[in-house]
Amino acid sequence: MCGIVGYTGGRNAAPILLAGLGRLEYRGYDSSGIALIQNDNLIVRKKQGKVEDLRLSLEREPTASLIGLGHTRWATHGVPSEQNAHPHVDNANRIALIHNGIIENHAAIKEFLLSEGYQFYTSTDTEVLAQLVGHHFHANLADAVRAAVNQVEGSYSIAVIAPEDPLTIVAARNGIPLIIGIGEGEYFIASDTAAFLEHTNQIITLEDHEIAVITPAGVNVSAAGQQHIRKEISTVASNLEQIEKNGFEHFMLKEIYDQPRALEAAMRGRIDPGGINYHEIEVVLSYLENASRIYLTACGTSWHAALIGEYLLEQIAGVAVEVEYASEFRYRQPLIDKKTVVVAISQSGETADTLAAMKMAKEQGAMVIGIANTVGSSVSLASDETIYINAGPEIGVASTKSFTSQVMVLILLAKALGERTGRLDARAAANMAQAIEALPEMANASLGTAGQVQEIAAQFERSRDFLYLGRGLNFPVALEGALKMKEISYIHAEGYPAAEMKHGPIALIDENMPVVCIAPRDDTYGKILSNIQEVKARRGRIIALTSEGDKGINKLADHVIQLPETIPALYPILAAIPLQLLAYHIAVGLDLDVDQPRNLAKCVTVE
Ligand code: AGP
Ligand code: GLU
Repeated sequence: MCGIVGYTGGRNAAPILLAGLGRLEYRGYDSSGIALIQNDNLIVRKKQGKVEDLRLSLEREPTASLIGLGHTRWATHGVPSEQNAHPHVDNANRIALIHNGIIENHAAIKEFLLSEGYQFYTSTDTEVLAQLVGHHFHANLADAVRAAVNQVEGSYSIAVIAPEDPLTIVAARNGIPLIIGIGEGEYFIASDTAAFLEHTNQIITLEDHEIAVITPAGVNVSAAGQQHIRKEISTVASNLEQIEKNGFEHFMLKEIYDQPRALEAAMRGRIDPGGINYHEIEVVLSYLENASRIYLTACGTSWHAALIGEYLLEQIAGVAVEVEYASEFRYRQPLIDKKTVVVAISQSGETADTLAAMKMAKEQGAMVIGIANTVGSSVSLASDETIYINAGPEIGVASTKSFTSQVMVLILLAKALGERTGRLDARAAANMAQAIEALPEMANASLGTAGQVQEIAAQFERSRDFLYLGRGLNFPVALEGALKMKEISYIHAEGYPAAEMKHGPIALIDENMPVVCIAPRDDTYGKILSNIQEVKARRGRIIALTSEGDKGINKLADHVIQLPETIPALYPILAAIPLQLLAYHIAVGLDLDVDQPRNLAKCVTVE
């Protein structure tokens, strides 16, 4: 993880780099640093903590440089500290380097460099790479970077500058995103276009094993073997408004409130077979229909969406599906043949575990389908077909709108496949389409519970634990509610299938335990009422999510949140919203950093 940014052009680099780092901070925020070239010297400034700390320290001693690199870190090797922060320099102080990723053979390279007399000052894998570039740097910086990356194993996107070549940034990538932004007489590099979108929306996406030499006069991209590569210039689809808070206190809140729009975007053109985006689903359907086995794989919140997808595809389309954590999938020797379809779900499109699972599945002959949010992301590049959720940029570290949009896409997939397999007759399909079209409006109504949820949050912010219960499709919603609570409020929370509670967790219930029960009026309503009775009998405090007009739960629950009536398949989307808000308001009440919770980062590009 971590965010990298670079600039070369005619303007003062430091403010541009700091603004870029601010926009990349969601990727990592334990320390940050910049490197500049001033009067033929390298200047490196680093700070532990937030980019704001770095900005303040730079304000005290302003710099003037037309080129520079910036980095905001999420440590993998070596504790978060000023020393371990990037940029790293070589012993001779001839080059500075920033890195996102992991150098897996850093120990062997370090041993070699030590034997050559190099000294190390940090415990990072990145310093090893910086020293290696320095070791190979004779006259040409690009040659030095090429020689160094040819020796390393692992994943990286890197950028290097050197006072001996004072206008040039050399960048390289393997497995981790790196985008070049093209301005007028100035160029940018970054992990994510958000870093430079205020300056340009024209980009070149670097691909694996490519090396770019960037100066204010232009960009030259070559392959590992030095052959020149002609790169396409494309235009970034997102705009500045999408990556700013627009009056919301936090990105997470903005993104929670963006869900009605995002749901609309996810379904646009996909309900009517004549719609423009239907084609991508069509192609995917024929793979799924003829598959010998279907696996859904993902991590974290996306894995919860996959679990909902399993229920949906089985119930609505009648096809058997297995769901696996991407990090487990590749090591369990799954049964894969040429007719196996693996559907990988990822918001960032850069999650290393998910990418590794996709790679393994592909090597074994499977067809790989991606459900992604970012066009051009590694997941979409690694997929045979990609369905985009079209949620727009998600910046809050805790996923919100991407979850409901992923579920939306899975609903559309299940519906379309159900129509093909004949499990869903024309009438049922039409009813479902109608319910889907009404969903953005219902999501608005679900957001209407915010005031009530905020009051509930105030009552429970001192709780030490939370239990979330749901059945069927709503069991993964319970898992997701608990994950949100853990991630941003640091309160221990567990999601359980409601009936499973009596097989163990019931021992935890007493008058201090809030139990969030997701209980829409569906086939399991009667059963979940019994489970709620069991909680009540042990004096647990019940927060129930149910359907509008339901009175059955009122007598049992301490708090009842009523959500609009819809078909069962869509309820998880409506139920997720108040659970996101509950976690959000508790975290705000506890004065925690909602958008950048401790120890986390938005995309986990390491395994
Ligand atoms: C969600 O709130 C988390 N921050 C995390 O679990 C996330 O969903 C997971 O890392 C997967 O990310 P992806 O969807 O970008 O692949
Ligand atoms: N491995 C490097 C470090 O620990 C980079 C980490 C990252 O990509 O987040 O500093």
